[in-house]
Amino acid sequence: MKMVLASKNAHKLVEMSAILSQLGIEVVLESDVGVDVDVEETGETFEENAELKARAVMKAAGLPAIADDSGLCVTALGGGPGVYSARYGGEGLTDKDRYELVLSGLSGQIDRSAKFVSAICCVFPNGDKLTARGECPGLITYAPRGSGTFGYDPIFLVPEKRKTFAEMEGEEKNAISHRGRALEKFKTELEQYLAAQGGTQGKAGEDNG
Ligand code: IMP
Repeated sequence: MKMVLASKNAHKLVEMSAILSQLGIEVVLESDVGVDVDVEETGETFEENAELKARAVMKAAGLPAIADDSGLCVTALGGGPGVYSARYGGEGLTDKDRYELVLSGLSGQIDRSAKFVSAICCVFPNGDKLTARGECPGLITYAPRGSGTFGYDPIFLVPEKRKTFAEMEGEEKNAISHRGRALEKFKTELEQYLAAQGGTQGKAGEDNG
């Protein structure tokens, strides 16, 4: 089965392919199937946004589509930046600007607890929908640590590892990250779904492809 990733992020493609290829699923980018969809993330939850993205791409491509929506939720910031993580502080900021904004928002705060959340949604042309959520609890550091450059990685400390996400190798992070956990759950869901379809693994994609 072919599944379109509702994202232009090649990094996400690598992570998703690594897990879903184990089920014989080929994950492709929108551009691979001639689709370019810009979805406004108007949902109030990660799940709503993931579904908005997946549904729009599924309709445009006529193939099963999968999307992930993720973000950082900081307790002392009332759960923010949350679904606004990618645009926290407004347009035109760098990742560094955004994590510095989080650090300054926590200035003088003793409660540094936070979590990363990832919601995965997969929709099929026949209307079926699968979802999975993964969370990774941690603490916000007082200063950035590590050379990783993605998003809020340098300020997110995983206490058991004594490392920020930015100090971890890819595999080490994927094994405990919100997205890694959501993907593992999703893999189980999809496995059960495909088994219930009676082994018609190619059907959803072929019917509409
Ligand atoms: P989206 O899911 O593509 O809408 O964007 C989520 C945003 O949350 C990203 O742009 C990052 O700022 C942040 N984010 C999500 N996952 C991670 C992660 O694993 N590390 C660092 N930042 C992340």
